[in-house]
Amino acid sequence: MFLCRLSKVIFAVTILLMVSVKVHPSEIGFSAEDYLSLANNALSSDANEKAIDLYLKGIHALTNDESLLTILSLETNLASAYSSIGDNEKAIVHYQKAISSYNELIDEIVDKQLIDQAKGIASQSSLFLGMVLQDAGEPRKALDAYGYAVVLDPKTWAALANLGSVLHDQLGNHDEALDAYNKAYEILTEVEDPTDAPEEPRFILSQLQYRIGLCLTHDPERKCALATDPTKEVSCKEMATHAFSLAVQYDPSNESAKHMLATITADATMKRASNTYVTNLFDDYAQNFEHSLVQELGYNGYEKLRRGFERAFGGESFVPTFSLVVDAGCGTGLVGEQFRNVSSYMIGVDLSQAILDEAEKLRPKLYDERIVGDITDVFREKKPISLIVAADSYIYFGDLDPLFDAMEDGMDDGAYAAFTLENVNADDEVTLDESKPDWRWQLTPSGRFAHRKQYVLHVAQAHHLALIHYETLDGFRYEHGRKVRGHLFVMQKKVAGISNDEL
Ligand SMILES: *[C@@H]1O[C@H](CO)[C@@H](O)[C@H](O)[C@H]1NC(C)=O
Ligand SMILES: *[C@@H]1O[C@H](CO)[C@@H](O)[C@H](O)[C@H]1NC(C)=O
Repeated sequence: MFLCRLSKVIFAVTILLMVSVKVHPSEIGFSAEDYLSLANNALSSDANEKAIDLYLKGIHALTNDESLLTILSLETNLASAYSSIGDNEKAIVHYQKAISSYNELIDEIVDKQLIDQAKGIASQSSLFLGMVLQDAGEPRKALDAYGYAVVLDPKTWAALANLGSVLHDQLGNHDEALDAYNKAYEILTEVEDPTDAPEEPRFILSQLQYRIGLCLTHDPERKCALATDPTKEVSCKEMATHAFSLAVQYDPSNESAKHMLATITADATMKRASNTYVTNLFDDYAQNFEHSLVQELGYNGYEKLRRGFERAFGGESFVPTFSLVVDAGCGTGLVGEQFRNVSSYMIGVDLSQAILDEAEKLRPKLYDERIVGDITDVFREKKPISLIVAADSYIYFGDLDPLFDAMEDGMDDGAYAAFTLENVNADDEVTLDESKPDWRWQLTPSGRFAHRKQYVLHVAQAHHLALIHYETLDGFRYEHGRKVRGHLFVMQKKVAGISNDEL
């Protein structure tokens, strides 16, 4: 069962405050209200049996003109006392009596404040009835009870959360469960003065988002729409990513939430560039770390690529000169500079005109040619290419197949490609190897993709690219003070008809 044992305690306290406590030397001449206050005292000090006895006496002492609040409180608290000692049957009977007294008597009351108070107690009675029924394995009756609690008090997030959990855990109705969790979340985050708001809501918000994520991922065929624009279809996986990422933000120590986030972002079909939803999501996510003192520190991937490339050939002096080199995702020319002295003709390609302008400003005449465009198009247009270098640009591709296909097409037989990729962090690697042993890539919180070595090799093989050199680059970049793991690949395109071993 979900969540709200806590609100039961709060509830008992609320009732205690509602009646004045009168102390009598003996029980002779006690009114129902007197018994109620004595019983409440007993209940709040866990003297359940004594409380039950006093509530029963109170109910016995009820007169015809008794206030509805007293009746409601006696029945509801008696039921709670029964539930505390595990007598669900009697608890159910008395919660139901509380609710039916409410329904019978509420029309006679004119005082607005009294009506609201009575509604509040009846709603809680119905919430607790739902919890007992849920415990007792009566999910459909529990649903009705939670539903009625919400009708009486639309701000009862706990009834909605529990409604969701019955639908989700016991009835397998994920769509309606999702709706209920979302409403509960909305009440806690957007509505003024929710009923029995938890003092430290973040654990409950985390749990709600976690469950929202589970509902969204339950059915892979499920279609999702943005609440803000229901005509806009988005992938449920993206929304679930959002939910799990919120769950982690509310409770960063929760391993299950971290696990789900790692798993769902692996092999996700989303594409960073085309998807503002995920981009925004990860921008938000990243902003939470902005206060971190250490920002991108000591990035030197371009140098590492050059050194690794030399090692692939057995040392700098063995690196030949290449007739046509494409610097894929060249940025301001950091990589181009490293490879300039082994390139006869060098083309810099980038998606951004602004950055190519910057490259020309910072490193005039570095490139023989600069192209604004998609690297996969340029690979095909400029063939035969003798060397492709790409530091930190393949990380914007999830699925590497179209990219490697373009490389295969554009590269000359025996040509080389040297590139870096990111790897997932060590914790996620463990998680993924357990939960998703055939994972291929993961969308990381930075909005880039981390690729698994085996996957890279698998795609390369399918495109006749042989690995000739591999290095791990742990901490090749720092991000928000954390080392980013990476790896470096040098590949060579096989000559048609000759296996690479013969090269
Ligand atoms: C993590 O979150 C899940 C779902 O909200 C919850 O069931 C679990 O108890 C939490 N675990 C910890 C250690 O807080
Ligand atoms: C070529 O340039 C690289 C990068 O600047 C440098 O490390 C290397 O020593 C240069 N090689 C020669 C032969 O000048």
